[in-house]
Amino acid sequence: MCGIVGYVGSKPVIDILLNGLSKLEYRGYDSAGVAVNSEGKIKIYKAEGKLQNLKELLETHKAEILDTTAGIGHIRWATHGLPNTINAHPHTCNCGKLAIVHNGIIENYKELKKDLLAKGCEFKSETDTEVVAHLIANEYGKYNDLPKAVREAAKKLKGAYALCVMHQDEPNILVGTRKNAPLIVALGQGENYLASDSPAIIQYTKRVIYLDDDQFAVLTPSSVLITDIEGRQIDRKEEILPWEPVAMSKLGYKHFMLKEIHEQPDVIRNVLSGKLPDINKPIVLDEVKLTKDEIKNLKRIEIIACGTSLHAAMVAKYILEAFTNIPVDVEASSEYIYRKTVTDANTLVIGISQSGETSDTITAIRQAKSVGSHVLIITNRPDSIMAREAHSLIPVNAGIEVSVAATKSFNAQLIALYLFAMYIAEIKESFDLEKIKDLKHEMLLLPQKIETILSHKEDIMKCARAFASYKNFIYIARGINYPTALEGALKLKEISYINATGYPAGELKHGPIAMLDETMPVLAILMPGSIVYEKVLSNAEEAKARNAKMIALTSAHDAHLNDVFEYILRVPSVDEYLSPVITSVPLQLLAYYIAEFLGKDVDQPRNLAKSVTVE
Ligand code: M6R
Repeated sequence: MCGIVGYVGSKPVIDILLNGLSKLEYRGYDSAGVAVNSEGKIKIYKAEGKLQNLKELLETHKAEILDTTAGIGHIRWATHGLPNTINAHPHTCNCGKLAIVHNGIIENYKELKKDLLAKGCEFKSETDTEVVAHLIANEYGKYNDLPKAVREAAKKLKGAYALCVMHQDEPNILVGTRKNAPLIVALGQGENYLASDSPAIIQYTKRVIYLDDDQFAVLTPSSVLITDIEGRQIDRKEEILPWEPVAMSKLGYKHFMLKEIHEQPDVIRNVLSGKLPDINKPIVLDEVKLTKDEIKNLKRIEIIACGTSLHAAMVAKYILEAFTNIPVDVEASSEYIYRKTVTDANTLVIGISQSGETSDTITAIRQAKSVGSHVLIITNRPDSIMAREAHSLIPVNAGIEVSVAATKSFNAQLIALYLFAMYIAEIKESFDLEKIKDLKHEMLLLPQKIETILSHKEDIMKCARAFASYKNFIYIARGINYPTALEGALKLKEISYINATGYPAGELKHGPIAMLDETMPVLAILMPGSIVYEKVLSNAEEAKARNAKMIALTSAHDAHLNDVFEYILRVPSVDEYLSPVITSVPLQLLAYYIAEFLGKDVDQPRNLAKSVTVE
């Protein structure tokens, strides 16, 4: 979603802003802009579409903006108003002396706008952000003090925001604040930065301060002051970012998505390392702060997440219920937050999120905390808001995931969830401990098995080429691979825009079968193990009988499969409990190659954002 970069110092401001914004591009956006304080004036440059358009515009204005010491930049993912140049940030006020960039949504912008219109403010855009620009300008008129004006304006705002503001008359100051949206202050030598996410600044400095809600940062090149909303100074310790800048490189792959798919074996090794030291010893999860007694007394587990993380949660339900005998409910965060929270102190609430910044999941875990539940967060971003809210935190350490389509984070989350389920099972002795030992052994083999899939991609590419022109797709599976079917379908629709739906295979004849004919490919996941293999095969035969084009994803070498399926994508055999880790990989690749053949923008699909920071 939207991204913010701000800079005060002596380096070329435009380069720093553009470079920072380019590191946030992966989050998804539809326009971009910068404002600089140059030659005593605020100058704003904005362009619709990709950052490249803004770069080209700035190139033509080079001479006007040579002498700049401070600036703010933004990429916008449209919420209020079309994704055009007028609605792009930065926004300004009547006098044009102030510039502001904003992530989030101002919920009371209509009421505020009414008042401001009555005071003579003229609005150019349809955005909620422009209201904040006028509001701060009005306060500036009273106090002639930018930090004070921002604080007074913030008292009137409702909603979620990260703001970065500059004023012509205070050329060496940037003011930032946040509420329910991330904003960090990054500290340099004779220069300081504001950013909505660390990739924007990590190449310059790793020293950061994470602002909390309702905190205000006043930056000059040589100082940073953090205050509360009344202007009282707050002591905040700086922290060191846990990332390396190299993590943002494609390392020779055509797309980040392909690179991230290929990183999965190492990501899994990474998650396992230290936590599974020896298959004969218990899982080590020091991150879980529940006592053994608290674990034994758990009556329920709720897992809340969105998108791909929700699919990981659905796999976890099978595992946790089987291994621990604790009933597990899984719910989309966006649904969880709009009904009564009947969660209590004997319920463990698990929030899963790659980014740790997904607005609905943040709200959901806060609700769960407020009724006394222990909140365990599984995230790829130990520096995120969610991580900071957690009672227990299992970081999955998959490295920054740049492609909007989540891949490596899914499997990293799954491994963390398997470890957690085994950890509880070992404490409660609720599952056959010999079987757990076998599964631990198998888990250690997963990276190798994924490597086998990755080194034999030809069948997947052939299949992708054959099906790239279809407009619809159905994915079916049963049991623990039903969430994988949903995930495979989500990957395909996200990056190729093909309408793909996952169904429990048994549901096909309760409706979806009506859609089947030769124009509707059906991909069936058939992993031997429990009885579901035979059942999915029967459901696939029913689909075949309706002329659907059939693809199998399986580890089986059953000769009968050749009668039913035109394409068979084979994966190494694996215990059924662990199979989603294996079956997810060819589905990621299938989606990737179809999107690639169609010439889609794989890493930044239209309309999507990497972190969904608005409800
Ligand atoms: O960062 P989160 O895991 O909380 O994000 C949740 C979803 O927005 C995310 O998984 C989304 O569905 C991805 N684009 C899936 O590829």
